Amino acid sequence: MIKNDLFLRALKGETVDRPPVWMMRQAGRYLPEFMEIRKKYDFFTRCQTPELASEITVQPIRRYGMDAAILFSDILVIPQAMNIEVEMKPNFGPYLPSPIRSKEDLDRVIIPEVGEALGYVMEAITATKEKLNDEIPLIGFAGSPWTLLCYCVEGQGSKSFDKARGFCFTQPELAHQLLQKITDTTIAYLKAKVKAGVNAVQVFDSWGGMLSPKDYQEFSWQYIQQIVNALKDIAPVIVFGKGCWFALKEMAQSGAAAVGVDWTCSPQNARYLTGGNVTLQGNFDPARLLSPPNQIRKMVTQMIHDFGKDKYVANLGHGILPNIPVDHAKAFVDAVKEFKA
Ligand code: CP3
Repeated sequence: MIKNDLFLRALKGETVDRPPVWMMRQAGRYLPEFMEIRKKYDFFTRCQTPELASEITVQPIRRYGMDAAILFSDILVIPQAMNIEVEMKPNFGPYLPSPIRSKEDLDRVIIPEVGEALGYVMEAITATKEKLNDEIPLIGFAGSPWTLLCYCVEGQGSKSFDKARGFCFTQPELAHQLLQKITDTTIAYLKAKVKAGVNAVQVFDSWGGMLSPKDYQEFSWQYIQQIVNALKDIAPVIVFGKGCWFALKEMAQSGAAAVGVDWTCSPQNARYLTGGNVTLQGNFDPARLLSPPNQIRKMVTQMIHDFGKDKYVANLGHGILPNIPVDHAKAFVDAVKEFKA
Protein backbone atom coordinates (compact mmCIF):
# COMPACT_ATOMS: atom_id res chain seq x y z
CA MET A 1 0.00 0.00 0.00
CA ILE A 2 1.14 3.54 -0.84
CA LYS A 3 1.15 5.80 2.23
CA ASN A 4 0.37 9.04 0.38
CA ASP A 5 -2.18 7.96 -2.23
CA LEU A 6 -3.62 11.43 -2.88
CA PHE A 7 -2.52 11.32 -6.54
CA LEU A 8 -4.13 7.92 -7.16
CA ARG A 9 -7.32 9.05 -5.41
CA ALA A 10 -7.51 12.17 -7.58
CA LEU A 11 -7.09 9.96 -10.67
CA LYS A 12 -10.07 7.93 -9.47
CA GLY A 13 -12.07 11.14 -9.02
CA GLU A 14 -12.41 10.77 -5.25
CA THR A 15 -13.06 13.78 -3.01
CA VAL A 16 -9.84 15.14 -1.49
CA ASP A 17 -8.83 17.88 0.97
CA ARG A 18 -6.41 19.37 -1.54
CA PRO A 19 -5.25 18.35 -5.01
CA PRO A 20 -2.04 16.34 -5.44
CA VAL A 21 0.94 18.03 -7.08
CA TRP A 22 3.87 17.04 -9.30
CA MET A 23 5.69 18.83 -12.11
CA MET A 24 6.31 17.56 -15.61
CA ARG A 25 10.07 17.09 -16.12
CA GLN A 26 10.55 17.57 -12.37
CA ALA A 27 13.81 15.58 -12.45
CA GLY A 28 15.85 17.99 -14.50
CA ARG A 29 18.32 20.72 -15.12
CA TYR A 30 16.87 23.33 -12.74
CA LEU A 31 18.08 21.17 -9.83
CA PRO A 32 21.71 21.69 -8.68
CA GLU A 33 21.92 18.07 -7.45
CA PHE A 34 20.86 16.90 -10.93
CA MET A 35 23.55 19.07 -12.53
CA GLU A 36 26.17 17.43 -10.29
CA ILE A 37 25.29 13.98 -11.67
CA ARG A 38 24.99 15.39 -15.20
CA LYS A 39 28.63 16.57 -15.06
CA LYS A 40 29.83 13.02 -14.52
CA TYR A 41 27.66 10.86 -16.79
CA ASP A 42 26.26 11.35 -20.28
CA PHE A 43 22.53 11.32 -20.87
CA PHE A 44 21.92 7.69 -21.84
CA THR A 45 24.31 6.44 -19.16
CA ARG A 46 22.06 8.21 -16.66
CA CYS A 47 19.01 6.54 -18.21
CA GLN A 48 20.58 3.08 -18.44
CA THR A 49 22.12 2.89 -14.96
CA PRO A 50 19.36 1.98 -12.48
CA GLU A 51 21.26 3.50 -9.53
CA LEU A 52 21.58 6.86 -11.34
CA ALA A 53 18.08 6.89 -12.84
CA SER A 54 16.50 6.07 -9.47
CA GLU A 55 18.63 8.65 -7.64
CA ILE A 56 17.66 11.38 -10.16
CA THR A 57 14.00 10.36 -9.87
CA VAL A 58 13.92 10.89 -6.10
CA GLN A 59 15.98 14.11 -6.05
CA PRO A 60 13.00 16.47 -6.54
CA ILE A 61 10.95 14.43 -4.03
CA ARG A 62 13.56 14.87 -1.31
CA ARG A 63 13.74 18.59 -1.98
CA TYR A 64 10.04 19.43 -2.41
CA GLY A 65 7.90 16.47 -1.34
CA MET A 66 5.67 16.16 -4.40
CA ASP A 67 2.77 13.69 -4.25
CA ALA A 68 4.12 11.57 -7.13
CA ALA A 69 7.50 10.75 -8.64
CA ILE A 70 8.10 10.29 -12.39
CA LEU A 71 10.78 7.89 -13.45
CA PHE A 72 13.86 9.56 -14.91
CA SER A 73 14.20 8.30 -18.48
CA ASP A 74 13.31 9.64 -21.93
CA ILE A 75 10.68 9.08 -24.59
CA LEU A 76 13.49 8.37 -27.09
CA VAL A 77 14.52 5.08 -25.46
CA ILE A 78 11.69 3.54 -27.54
CA PRO A 79 13.10 4.40 -31.01
CA GLN A 80 16.51 3.39 -29.71
CA ALA A 81 15.18 -0.05 -28.76
CA MET A 82 13.55 -0.26 -32.21
CA ASN A 83 16.96 -0.16 -33.89
CA ILE A 84 16.93 3.58 -34.63
CA GLU A 85 20.10 5.25 -33.45
CA VAL A 86 19.52 8.16 -31.03
CA GLU A 87 22.19 10.48 -29.63
CA MET A 88 21.72 13.24 -27.06
CA LYS A 89 24.10 16.00 -28.14
CA PRO A 90 25.10 18.52 -25.48
CA ASN A 91 23.69 22.01 -26.26
CA PHE A 92 21.73 20.57 -29.18
CA GLY A 93 19.31 17.92 -27.91
CA PRO A 94 18.23 14.69 -29.57
CA TYR A 95 20.00 13.73 -32.81
CA LEU A 96 19.08 10.69 -34.93
CA PRO A 97 21.77 10.23 -37.58
CA SER A 98 19.72 7.86 -39.78
CA PRO A 99 16.14 9.18 -39.84
CA ILE A 100 13.24 7.14 -41.25
CA ARG A 101 12.13 8.52 -44.61
CA SER A 102 11.70 5.56 -46.98
CA LYS A 103 10.51 1.96 -47.11
CA GLU A 104 14.13 0.77 -46.80
CA ASP A 105 14.53 2.86 -43.65
CA LEU A 106 11.30 1.46 -42.24
CA ASP A 107 12.33 -2.13 -42.98
CA ARG A 108 15.20 -1.93 -40.50
CA VAL A 109 12.87 -0.77 -37.69
CA ILE A 110 12.15 -3.69 -35.37
CA ILE A 111 9.53 -4.35 -32.70
CA PRO A 112 11.87 -5.35 -29.88
CA GLU A 113 11.44 -7.79 -27.04
CA VAL A 114 10.99 -5.04 -24.41
CA GLY A 115 12.16 -7.14 -21.49
CA GLU A 116 15.54 -7.46 -23.19
CA ALA A 117 15.97 -4.15 -24.99
CA LEU A 118 14.54 -2.04 -22.17
CA GLY A 119 15.28 -4.24 -19.17
CA TYR A 120 17.34 -1.41 -17.70
CA VAL A 121 14.14 0.68 -17.38
CA MET A 122 12.46 -2.10 -15.42
CA GLU A 123 15.53 -2.34 -13.17
CA ALA A 124 15.39 1.45 -12.66
CA ILE A 125 11.76 1.07 -11.59
CA THR A 126 12.69 -1.62 -9.05
CA ALA A 127 15.50 0.55 -7.67
CA THR A 128 13.22 3.61 -7.50
CA LYS A 129 10.44 1.71 -5.74
CA GLU A 130 12.97 0.69 -3.09
CA LYS A 131 14.06 4.30 -2.57
CA LEU A 132 10.46 5.56 -2.46
CA ASN A 133 9.62 2.97 0.17
CA ASP A 134 5.88 3.09 -0.67
CA GLU A 135 5.68 6.75 0.41
CA ILE A 136 4.26 8.05 -2.89
CA PRO A 137 3.24 6.57 -6.27
CA LEU A 138 5.63 6.29 -9.21
CA ILE A 139 4.59 7.40 -12.71
CA GLY A 140 5.92 5.69 -15.82
CA PHE A 141 5.66 7.37 -19.21
CA ALA A 142 6.03 7.08 -22.96
CA GLY A 143 5.92 9.48 -25.86
CA SER A 144 2.89 9.27 -28.13
CA PRO A 145 3.50 7.42 -31.40
CA TRP A 146 3.10 10.70 -33.34
CA THR A 147 5.60 12.57 -31.13
CA LEU A 148 8.10 9.75 -31.54
CA LEU A 149 7.53 9.70 -35.32
CA CYS A 150 8.39 13.41 -35.31
CA TYR A 151 11.90 12.66 -34.00
CA CYS A 152 12.34 9.46 -36.05
CA VAL A 153 11.60 11.27 -39.33
CA GLU A 154 12.92 14.77 -38.62
CA GLY A 155 16.10 13.38 -37.05
CA GLN A 156 16.23 16.16 -34.46
CA GLY A 157 14.07 18.65 -32.61
CA SER A 158 12.27 21.28 -34.68
CA LYS A 159 9.90 24.22 -34.28
CA SER A 160 7.46 22.89 -36.87
CA PHE A 161 8.49 19.31 -37.76
CA ASP A 162 7.91 20.00 -41.48
CA LYS A 163 9.75 16.86 -42.61
CA ALA A 164 7.72 14.67 -40.26
CA ARG A 165 4.44 16.18 -41.41
CA GLY A 166 5.58 16.02 -45.04
CA PHE A 167 6.36 12.32 -44.60
CA CYS A 168 2.84 11.66 -43.28
CA PHE A 169 1.17 13.63 -46.07
CA THR A 170 3.25 12.24 -48.98
CA GLN A 171 3.78 8.65 -47.76
CA PRO A 172 0.79 8.00 -45.46
CA GLU A 173 1.05 4.22 -45.76
CA LEU A 174 4.63 4.19 -44.53
CA ALA A 175 3.73 6.68 -41.81
CA HIS A 176 0.93 4.43 -40.57
CA GLN A 177 3.22 1.39 -40.60
CA LEU A 178 5.78 3.26 -38.52
CA LEU A 179 3.10 4.57 -36.15
CA GLN A 180 1.72 1.06 -35.66
CA LYS A 181 5.17 -0.39 -34.97
CA ILE A 182 5.77 2.33 -32.37
CA THR A 183 2.31 1.75 -30.87
CA ASP A 184 2.87 -2.01 -30.52
CA THR A 185 6.26 -1.44 -28.89
CA THR A 186 4.85 1.24 -26.57
CA ILE A 187 1.99 -0.98 -25.39
CA ALA A 188 4.37 -3.82 -24.54
CA TYR A 189 6.74 -1.33 -22.88
CA LEU A 190 4.08 0.32 -20.69
CA LYS A 191 2.65 -3.06 -19.70
CA ALA A 192 6.13 -4.14 -18.63
CA LYS A 193 6.54 -0.92 -16.65
CA VAL A 194 3.28 -1.55 -14.80
CA LYS A 195 4.42 -5.09 -14.08
CA ALA A 196 7.71 -3.71 -12.78
CA GLY A 197 5.82 -1.48 -10.34
CA VAL A 198 4.76 1.91 -11.73
CA ASN A 199 1.39 3.01 -10.32
CA ALA A 200 0.21 5.12 -13.28
CA VAL A 201 1.38 5.94 -16.79
CA GLN A 202 1.41 9.16 -18.78
CA VAL A 203 1.52 9.46 -22.55
CA PHE A 204 3.26 12.68 -23.69
CA ASP A 205 2.02 13.95 -27.04
CA SER A 206 4.35 16.93 -27.03
CA TRP A 207 3.93 17.67 -30.75
CA GLY A 208 0.26 16.80 -31.24
CA GLY A 209 -0.51 20.51 -31.54
CA MET A 210 1.49 20.60 -34.82
CA LEU A 211 -1.37 18.80 -36.56
CA SER A 212 -4.75 20.11 -37.73
CA PRO A 213 -7.64 18.62 -35.74
CA LYS A 214 -8.43 16.26 -38.64
CA ASP A 215 -4.83 15.13 -39.15
CA TYR A 216 -4.51 14.75 -35.38
CA GLN A 217 -7.25 12.10 -35.43
CA GLU A 218 -5.53 10.22 -38.24
CA PHE A 219 -1.86 10.44 -37.25
CA SER A 220 -1.93 10.80 -33.48
CA TRP A 221 -5.12 10.17 -31.60
CA GLN A 222 -6.11 6.75 -33.00
CA TYR A 223 -2.76 5.37 -31.82
CA ILE A 224 -2.99 6.96 -28.36
CA GLN A 225 -6.48 5.45 -28.08
CA GLN A 226 -4.98 1.98 -28.76
CA ILE A 227 -2.52 2.57 -25.91
CA VAL A 228 -5.28 3.69 -23.53
CA ASN A 229 -7.39 0.66 -24.46
CA ALA A 230 -4.51 -1.70 -23.77
CA LEU A 231 -3.48 -0.15 -20.45
CA LYS A 232 -6.59 1.26 -18.77
CA ASP A 233 -7.56 -1.94 -17.01
CA ILE A 234 -4.14 -2.46 -15.44
CA ALA A 235 -3.17 1.12 -14.50
CA PRO A 236 -4.57 4.66 -14.62
CA VAL A 237 -3.52 6.40 -17.83
CA ILE A 238 -2.95 10.16 -18.19
CA VAL A 239 -2.96 11.58 -21.71
CA PHE A 240 -1.26 14.91 -22.27
CA GLY A 241 -1.18 16.66 -25.62
CA LYS A 242 0.64 19.97 -25.94
CA GLY A 243 -1.52 22.36 -27.97
CA CYS A 244 -4.29 19.76 -28.24
CA TRP A 245 -7.23 21.59 -26.66
CA PHE A 246 -9.25 20.68 -29.78
CA ALA A 247 -8.97 16.99 -28.84
CA LEU A 248 -9.94 17.33 -25.17
CA LYS A 249 -13.39 15.86 -25.81
CA GLU A 250 -12.03 12.62 -27.33
CA MET A 251 -9.41 12.42 -24.61
CA ALA A 252 -12.08 12.73 -21.90
CA GLN A 253 -14.12 9.93 -23.45
CA SER A 254 -11.17 7.63 -24.15
CA GLY A 255 -11.05 5.70 -20.89
CA ALA A 256 -8.01 7.67 -19.70
CA ALA A 257 -8.11 8.38 -15.95
CA ALA A 258 -6.92 11.95 -16.48
CA VAL A 259 -6.32 14.47 -19.23
CA GLY A 260 -3.42 16.93 -19.27
CA VAL A 261 -4.06 20.54 -20.23
CA ASP A 262 -1.54 23.18 -21.30
CA TRP A 263 -1.70 26.85 -20.32
CA THR A 264 -3.24 28.08 -23.58
CA CYS A 265 -6.58 26.57 -22.49
CA SER A 266 -8.32 28.09 -19.45
CA PRO A 267 -9.37 25.74 -16.62
CA GLN A 268 -13.00 26.70 -17.23
CA ASN A 269 -12.78 25.91 -20.93
CA ALA A 270 -10.96 22.63 -20.23
CA ARG A 271 -13.76 21.59 -17.86
CA TYR A 272 -16.34 22.58 -20.45
CA LEU A 273 -14.64 20.70 -23.29
CA THR A 274 -14.13 17.55 -21.23
CA GLY A 275 -17.69 17.47 -19.89
CA GLY A 276 -16.79 18.04 -16.23
CA ASN A 277 -16.36 14.41 -15.22
CA VAL A 278 -12.78 13.43 -15.96
CA THR A 279 -9.77 14.35 -13.80
CA LEU A 280 -7.74 17.18 -15.34
CA GLN A 281 -4.02 17.85 -14.86
CA GLY A 282 -2.13 21.09 -15.45
CA ASN A 283 -1.79 23.84 -16.48
CA PHE A 284 0.54 26.47 -15.00
CA ASP A 285 2.59 28.24 -17.66
CA PRO A 286 6.15 26.92 -17.04
CA ALA A 287 7.55 30.42 -17.72
CA ARG A 288 5.25 31.80 -14.99
CA LEU A 289 7.59 30.10 -12.51
CA LEU A 290 9.89 33.05 -13.29
CA SER A 291 7.43 35.40 -11.53
CA PRO A 292 8.21 36.31 -7.89
CA PRO A 293 7.33 33.49 -5.42
CA ASN A 294 4.50 35.40 -3.72
CA GLN A 295 2.88 35.94 -7.11
CA ILE A 296 3.37 32.25 -8.01
CA ARG A 297 1.55 31.28 -4.80
CA LYS A 298 -1.41 33.52 -5.58
CA MET A 299 -1.66 32.26 -9.13
CA VAL A 300 -1.50 28.63 -8.00
CA THR A 301 -4.32 29.16 -5.49
CA GLN A 302 -6.40 30.81 -8.20
CA MET A 303 -5.64 27.92 -10.58
CA ILE A 304 -6.95 25.40 -8.04
CA HIS A 305 -10.12 27.44 -7.54
CA ASP A 306 -10.59 27.63 -11.31
CA PHE A 307 -10.17 23.87 -11.87
CA GLY A 308 -11.84 22.93 -8.58
CA LYS A 309 -9.96 20.95 -5.92
CA ASP A 310 -11.52 17.59 -6.89
CA LYS A 311 -10.83 15.60 -10.05
CA TYR A 312 -7.72 17.68 -10.39
CA VAL A 313 -3.93 17.16 -10.34
CA ALA A 314 -1.94 20.38 -9.96
CA ASN A 315 0.92 20.50 -12.46
CA LEU A 316 2.59 22.72 -15.03
CA GLY A 317 1.18 22.98 -18.54
CA HIS A 318 4.43 21.49 -19.92
CA GLY A 319 7.90 20.61 -18.64
CA ILE A 320 9.73 22.81 -16.13
CA LEU A 321 12.35 25.09 -17.72
CA PRO A 322 16.05 24.76 -16.84
CA ASN A 323 16.31 28.40 -15.70
CA ILE A 324 13.70 28.22 -12.93
CA PRO A 325 15.12 29.18 -9.50
CA VAL A 326 14.76 26.36 -6.97
CA ASP A 327 12.76 28.49 -4.51
CA HIS A 328 10.25 29.34 -7.24
CA ALA A 329 9.61 25.64 -7.87
CA LYS A 330 9.21 25.29 -4.10
CA ALA A 331 6.62 28.11 -4.03
CA PHE A 332 4.61 26.22 -6.65
CA VAL A 333 4.60 22.91 -4.76
CA ASP A 334 4.05 24.54 -1.34
CA ALA A 335 1.11 26.61 -2.57
CA VAL A 336 -0.69 23.42 -3.62
CA LYS A 337 0.18 21.58 -0.41
CA GLU A 338 -1.04 24.50 1.71
CA PHE A 339 -4.30 24.90 -0.24
CA LYS A 340 -7.42 25.14 1.92
CA ALA A 341 -10.85 24.95 0.34
O1 CP3 B 1 9.73 14.40 -15.97
C1 CP3 B 1 10.82 13.96 -15.55
O2 CP3 B 1 11.44 14.53 -14.66
C2 CP3 B 1 11.33 12.67 -16.11
C3 CP3 B 1 12.29 12.84 -17.11
C4 CP3 B 1 11.96 13.12 -18.57
C5 CP3 B 1 13.00 13.44 -19.46
N1 CP3 B 1 12.48 13.48 -20.70
C6 CP3 B 1 14.42 13.64 -19.08
C7 CP3 B 1 15.26 14.48 -19.95
C8 CP3 B 1 10.76 13.06 -19.29
C9 CP3 B 1 9.35 12.82 -18.81
C10 CP3 B 1 11.12 13.28 -20.66
C11 CP3 B 1 10.14 13.24 -21.76
C12 CP3 B 1 10.50 13.82 -23.05
N2 CP3 B 1 11.69 13.75 -23.72
C13 CP3 B 1 9.59 14.49 -23.90
C14 CP3 B 1 8.13 14.67 -23.60
C15 CP3 B 1 7.86 15.70 -22.59
C16 CP3 B 1 8.07 17.11 -23.07
O3 CP3 B 1 8.71 17.85 -22.34
O4 CP3 B 1 7.51 17.45 -24.11
C17 CP3 B 1 10.29 14.88 -25.06
C18 CP3 B 1 9.72 15.64 -26.24
C19 CP3 B 1 11.62 14.39 -24.93
C20 CP3 B 1 12.70 14.47 -25.93
C21 CP3 B 1 13.86 15.19 -25.38
N3 CP3 B 1 14.72 14.67 -24.44
C22 CP3 B 1 14.31 16.47 -25.72
C23 CP3 B 1 13.63 17.41 -26.70
C24 CP3 B 1 15.47 16.71 -24.97
C25 CP3 B 1 16.41 17.88 -25.05
C26 CP3 B 1 16.03 18.98 -24.17
C27 CP3 B 1 17.16 20.01 -24.17
O5 CP3 B 1 16.80 21.17 -24.18
O6 CP3 B 1 18.32 19.59 -24.10
C28 CP3 B 1 15.68 15.59 -24.14
C29 CP3 B 1 16.75 15.41 -23.15
C30 CP3 B 1 16.31 15.29 -21.75
N4 CP3 B 1 15.39 14.39 -21.31
C31 CP3 B 1 16.81 16.03 -20.64
C32 CP3 B 1 16.17 15.51 -19.50
C33 CP3 B 1 16.40 15.91 -18.07
C34 CP3 B 1 17.85 17.16 -20.71
C35 CP3 B 1 19.19 16.74 -21.19
C36 CP3 B 1 20.17 16.33 -20.13
O7 CP3 B 1 19.77 16.11 -18.98
O8 CP3 B 1 21.34 16.21 -20.44
